[in-house]
Amino acid sequence: MKTGIIVVLCFLSLALIVPPSSASDDRRQKWWKWPSTGKSICSSVVLPLYGNVYPQGYYYAQINIGHPPRPYFVDPDTGSDLTWLQCDAPCVHCTQAPHPYYRPNNDLVPCKDPLCASLHSGDHRCDDPNQCDYEVEYADGGSSLGVLVNDVSLLNLTTGVRITPRLAIGCGYDQIPGPSYQPLDGVLGLGKGKTGIVSQLHSQGLIRNVVGHCFSSRGGGFLFFGDDVYDSSRVISTPMSRDYRKHYSPGYGEVIYGGKATGLKNLLVIFDSGSSYTYLSSQAYEGLLYLITKELSGKPIREAVDDETLPFCWKGRKPFRSIRDVKKYFKPVALSFSNGWRSKTQFEIPLEGYLLISSRGSVCLGVLNGTEVGLQNFNIIGDISMQDKMVIYDNEKQTIGWIPANCDNPPRSNTIIF
Ligand SMILES: *[C@@H]1O[C@H](CO)[C@@H](O)[C@H](O)[C@H]1NC(C)=O
Ligand SMILES: *[C@@H]1O[C@H](CO)[C@@H](O)[C@H](O)[C@H]1NC(C)=O
Repeated sequence: MKTGIIVVLCFLSLALIVPPSSASDDRRQKWWKWPSTGKSICSSVVLPLYGNVYPQGYYYAQINIGHPPRPYFVDPDTGSDLTWLQCDAPCVHCTQAPHPYYRPNNDLVPCKDPLCASLHSGDHRCDDPNQCDYEVEYADGGSSLGVLVNDVSLLNLTTGVRITPRLAIGCGYDQIPGPSYQPLDGVLGLGKGKTGIVSQLHSQGLIRNVVGHCFSSRGGGFLFFGDDVYDSSRVISTPMSRDYRKHYSPGYGEVIYGGKATGLKNLLVIFDSGSSYTYLSSQAYEGLLYLITKELSGKPIREAVDDETLPFCWKGRKPFRSIRDVKKYFKPVALSFSNGWRSKTQFEIPLEGYLLISSRGSVCLGVLNGTEVGLQNFNIIGDISMQDKMVIYDNEKQTIGWIPANCDNPPRSNTIIF
């Protein structure tokens, strides 16, 4: 019975948000403003994840788009907003993809749509009022150029209800792959901007404006939209930065090594699921490297040249099989964030969160030099450091939170599992 009521509310809200085109924004708000103290609007969406940090180098989710729905594998990226698919529009330059390229319908997002404006900074010119051209460029230099279209996405709510919201997505017909390019159909934009999928689902009254992920160190995991798949009383959280709002950032942090403050601080940190490794800006990177190598001196472990993408590796007398074999050589790391007046929150990074065992049995540092790859002063917490935790980006409370978790089993219903 309870589910039934929620379902009715859901579709009621769906019907209400389809606004007559003349409706002003103010009038629309009146209709679908939900009490912010209420429980979740409806439910959540949970998507299983596939892939791993090493050796594959990325995680991906399946989304189903179009009518009839077709599957696409996409990279869940909290570092960017726009969801786009390699697109047969026709394609000028596409990369290898697991599925046939997306074929757009004729439902173009017009240039003056607010979603289009949010993709362009400042004065945005409409060359053609009927279409919205976009270009996204990623930190590694890769890019996608295309046009925004509306299409339906098939999603299951945790209540068991199937929904087919209409979403604006990019039809990417010209991609330049960067060095960390992944052979996928596209990107799933989980950023907090208007075009982000969470923001779009939220503005249709379907979910609360919350997104999270759980990457398993054994590979796979899950992604969720909405807030009813975790126990909020167990979440460790820190406010999102008010100064740096473009990405999910807790502001400035300090590196803690083996439980001790290191003085490597004032590091502007971003949580970015689109990055497999963690990056520190050169000073902090060199500082951490110094602490690690100091700790290793006199131990039966020496530097090894192993994987070309991972510049620092060490081997022992015998090949290492798991992180357990190197527990006695390394110490845990953490990032500490100021959490208001005098209080601090620590994001713990156990050995599994910054080291990995290469295919040759060496232990390699999964933290890289951000300055070297052009990240300037940004410090990025990548997938490796977020494994075995639910990481929750709560755009309603403006917090980033996490809970240690077993990410192997996606929650199936809206009962609290963790
Ligand atoms: C939705 O749930 C049905 C039934 O459990 C399942 O067969 C289907 O694959 C799910 N679809 C999506 C898009 O997750
Ligand atoms: C990190 O990158 C910067 C910029 O390329 C470089 O100057 C520095 O030597 C690098 N540090 C290490 C330890 O590789």
